[in-house]
Amino acid sequence: ILRSISFHNTTLVARFFGTMDSAQGNFSPLKRFVVAKKKIGDVFEQLLEYVKEGSAFVEETCQNEALENIASRDQQEEIQAYAGKLQTIKDVLARRHMKVAFFGRTSNGKSTVVNAMLRDRVLPSGMGHTTNCFLSVEGTDANHAYLKTEGSEEEKSIKTVNQLGHALHMDESLDAGCLVRIFWPKTKCALLRDDLVLVDSPGTDVTTQLDSWIDNFCLDADVFVLVANSESTLMNTEKHFFHKVNEKLSKPNIFILNNRWDASASEPEYMEDVRKQHTDRCVNFLVDELKVMDREQAPNRIFFVSAKEVLNSRMQRAQGMPESGGALAEGFHERLKEFQSFERTFEECISQSAVKTKFEQHTIRAKQITETVKAIMDAINIEAAEKRVASLEDREYQMDRLEFVKNQLSLLIEDIKMKIKAITEEVESKVSSAMGEEICRLNVLIEEFHSDFQPSPHVLKLYKSDLLSHIEEGMGKNLAFRCSNAVNASLQSSQRDMIGSMQPLLPPAVQSQIQTLVPSRKFDLSYNLNCATLCSDFQENIEFQFSMGWTALVNRFLGPTNAKRALMLVDRNFQMTHSLSTTPSSGPSSVAVAHPQDAALSHEELMMSMATNLASLTSRTSMTVVIVGGVVCRTVGWRLIALSASMYGLLYLWEKLTWTTKAKEHALKRQFVDYATEKLQLIVRFTSANCSHQVQQEMATTFARLCQQVDLTQRELEGEISRLTAKVQTLETVQSHSKTLRHKATEFERQLEAFTDQYLNPHK
Ligand code: GTP
Ligand code: MG
Repeated sequence: ILRSISFHNTTLVARFFGTMDSAQGNFSPLKRFVVAKKKIGDVFEQLLEYVKEGSAFVEETCQNEALENIASRDQQEEIQAYAGKLQTIKDVLARRHMKVAFFGRTSNGKSTVVNAMLRDRVLPSGMGHTTNCFLSVEGTDANHAYLKTEGSEEEKSIKTVNQLGHALHMDESLDAGCLVRIFWPKTKCALLRDDLVLVDSPGTDVTTQLDSWIDNFCLDADVFVLVANSESTLMNTEKHFFHKVNEKLSKPNIFILNNRWDASASEPEYMEDVRKQHTDRCVNFLVDELKVMDREQAPNRIFFVSAKEVLNSRMQRAQGMPESGGALAEGFHERLKEFQSFERTFEECISQSAVKTKFEQHTIRAKQITETVKAIMDAINIEAAEKRVASLEDREYQMDRLEFVKNQLSLLIEDIKMKIKAITEEVESKVSSAMGEEICRLNVLIEEFHSDFQPSPHVLKLYKSDLLSHIEEGMGKNLAFRCSNAVNASLQSSQRDMIGSMQPLLPPAVQSQIQTLVPSRKFDLSYNLNCATLCSDFQENIEFQFSMGWTALVNRFLGPTNAKRALMLVDRNFQMTHSLSTTPSSGPSSVAVAHPQDAALSHEELMMSMATNLASLTSRTSMTVVIVGGVVCRTVGWRLIALSASMYGLLYLWEKLTWTTKAKEHALKRQFVDYATEKLQLIVRFTSANCSHQVQQEMATTFARLCQQVDLTQRELEGEISRLTAKVQTLETVQSHSKTLRHKATEFERQLEAFTDQYLNPHK
């Protein structure tokens, strides 16, 4: 490149060196701050997103009732607060810049130094008190310069330095304690692009408000530059100010520029001595008085420069002209080099220091937050894992229980069926035998019945219906007395057995109040004999019947069925033999009934007809007996016969007389006993079956109720199992999410650690 450039063209040479000179901006140590700021800003941005995500996750977990406080409200609030804090820090970081403040006595050239560094006449300078308030210069993305005065957001445009100086001087309200912010286009100055803010101050000798200066403008300054005048010695006012700064800040970074060093060129013979004298004093000031550094390093912070020369040459070069119009003062290059050396050292120092002071605390804070969030995620993960294991175990248990209930129920159903069968059979036999006994005792029961008895059909009907209800009631009562208690007892014990065996299968809530399952009403066996219908066709026979009468006798000898047949036969023979129609009635009983006409018949005739009739229907043996009787009669004589006949008559008379209402009632009762016994015997099986059916029904009802409860248990268990399955899934999600968040936290820790290593502890 050098060879291709024409050395005759001084402008080009100037430009080349200018490039060299300004090129340092490209490799400027200030970039370190810029890069670090970008990096830590990115980390904070991601960290903020991460904490927001984590906060949402914790909140969601916290609100999920099913998860039973896996995340606590405290954790949620803590992480939420972090999001706010991180946002604030992020905003603060974005505004962070490096700040250098220039102090010194009036006319030492502070403003000129700032201008030299900015490579332009940005600030007004001149003899006498030029700068009358604090002036900060920072970069703006706008392409024109403007200023803002304290307490106003108004952007006042400035075209030239003179205009600025004029504006500052015209503003009466501005005093030494005010700050005017000058915004200078970044395009015009590399330093400003790199987040550097330069603060110029009025001379330290013009004010007594040093404390408020420091409080207002110096606490966040990274570097202080004391601009001294090499033509005189360090003044107490200057020293005093730095003592104050040193009180308020721990080990401030201080540079001392011995300005106006160009003046020494006029007396080169003293130059070395003067330089040494100044250096010694400055070193003493920094090391012995302020104690901000050790003796070896102190000379590196002391420079002998001429700001005016540097500014002039840089501006000339910027305009494409030779550095100082050709008239270079003696030793200019050395002084320029020293100024550049100052700039380099200053940049290294300020970026190093600013990165540390501006980012270290926040990095530590970020680490703490990350650590805490990680711990929260860990805690959630562990809690979720524990709950998940517990839920799995619980689910396992519930599944086992469901299995058990199902198996047990099918076993029990068989068992209970058999039990029901057994008890129904038992009841059946019990009722059947009780009824048998009761039927045998029916006569007693009927004897106990007393009511108005009249043979008239109307009264009879009433009597019979009363009798029937008496039997119904009495028998029912007796049966109940015989069976009900026993049946109830065995029913209850069976029910208790059944409930007992099914109890383990019931829902816990039901188990505790098992009594509710036992029917509260007492089981009442209903025998339901229904005597009225059963005996509806009972027909009593209470007509008078002579016990020695024809029908009665036949009945006695042949039994009621044969007698009926026989009598019908006899009736016909009788009519044929005598051609007498003495009996108008056709019923078999009418034969036996004695009519008044019969009394008119002679005893002989009667005997004969009796004998004939008897002979015609009884066996030969009977015939023989009668004949023999007749023979005996003839032998014994008529007297005996007459006696017998009269006795027979008497007997008849007696019987007829004793055939009273009472006797009729008795007869009816006796007939009824026979009739009812027969009828009741028919329904023994039916009634006992009915009773056992009732018991079976009762048992079945209880069993059904139990089964219903078991069904409830099963459904509860199934519901519980599916709830637990869902819970386990949610917990798995929570676990994996918290694990992911935890890994992210680790990643942030790694990033923050890397940042710390690279920028905060680079020498470690
Ligand atoms: P105040 O703002 O009044 O406190 O003064 P200051 O410290 O800002 O000084 P300023 O930069 O205004 O310079 C004062 C005068 O000194 C100006 O006329 C500058 O030209 C001149 N001056 C500044 N630096 C040098 C230098 O290095 N050599 C010479 N010879 N003159 C300088
Ligand atoms: Mg000034």
